[in-house]
Amino acid sequence: MEKYKYIDLFAGAGGMSLGFDKAGFENVLAVEYDECFAETYKFNFPDHNLKVEDIKNISNDEIKKIIGNNKIDVIIGGPPCQGFSIAGRIGRNFIDDERNQLFKEFVRFVNVIKPKIFVMENVAALKTHNKGKTIEEIVNEFKNVGYTVKYDVLNAVNYGVPQQRRRIFIIGTLNENNKFEFPKKTNKYITIKEALKGLPELKSGETSNIPNHNAMHHSKQMLEKMSYVKDGGDRNDIPEELRPKSGDIRKYIRYNSKEPSICITGDMRKVFHFNQNRALTGRELARIQTFPDNFIFKGNAGKVQQQIGNAVPPKLAFQIANSVKEVLDNE
Ligand SMILES: C[S@@+](CC[C@H](N)C(=O)[O-])C[C@H]1O[C@@H](n2cnc3c(N)ncnc32)[C@H](O)[C@@H]1O
Repeated sequence: MEKYKYIDLFAGAGGMSLGFDKAGFENVLAVEYDECFAETYKFNFPDHNLKVEDIKNISNDEIKKIIGNNKIDVIIGGPPCQGFSIAGRIGRNFIDDERNQLFKEFVRFVNVIKPKIFVMENVAALKTHNKGKTIEEIVNEFKNVGYTVKYDVLNAVNYGVPQQRRRIFIIGTLNENNKFEFPKKTNKYITIKEALKGLPELKSGETSNIPNHNAMHHSKQMLEKMSYVKDGGDRNDIPEELRPKSGDIRKYIRYNSKEPSICITGDMRKVFHFNQNRALTGRELARIQTFPDNFIFKGNAGKVQQQIGNAVPPKLAFQIANSVKEVLDNE
């Protein structure tokens, strides 16, 4: 049977692409403009058609040329939307704020290609922002190009991902009767200890021969203070006389081995391993995001963290992809 075809916009390292590939979809195009993230994508998906380009520079004619005779079933992607956080406060609409231009680029691709279904992922706050007006605007933008929209905030921890990560998923279908059903929750949380199992121990500054499993270097003072912080503990574990009086509270937190991880972002340098005196390595962060160990991240430590922190956990993307498949199978 022919595979369903997808396009990944704002592809990053490819967390979402990986989930869709695993569910049996075929990539026709991926767009990412960051050279380093694109290197990662190319390395892990050598058969995909990656365009390393600012999405704004891809004209409608070019889109049609790239697609050719392919019938696109689904467009997926997570456009960065920066303007929404203050748009409400200053009384401006989400759509009119130029910092949300990339959202409009996503709508433009959907409008030109007219896939049967699209999946747009974004920060959970979109749902409640500006007393619900922002999500209403978004739904209307898609409605104007012919789509019926459903949305929900999912917490990755409920889908076999060892991490508290809430994100909105907005799903539109060309069919007026949007039959998409969000995946069913699993009933067991995976702890961080389970997630990191089997990875060799490392000291601050040590490297290993496992790809992306290299520990960053911490100052002597930091290491001393953190040596007092227990599994799941914080700066209050540090003896009074050594405890910093001010500064970033996150500097002195240790992961709780019995819980899933807190949300992985682009900068996790200040949260320490539950029983090793250092921050997590890229490989450990990748485990928490459910990337397999053979998925390699390119670039320096900062870039590696960014692309891991940006990603949709592949395991969650896989379940979304299966729900998308249900819709397509029943068209
Ligand atoms: C939230 S991340 C996407 C993560 C991806 N969905 C995943 O699962 O790994 C957004 C991506 O959009 C890219 N991006 C931002 N502006 C762009 C633009 N104008 N053109 C193309 N890509 C852009 C960023 O470099 C970043 O990798």
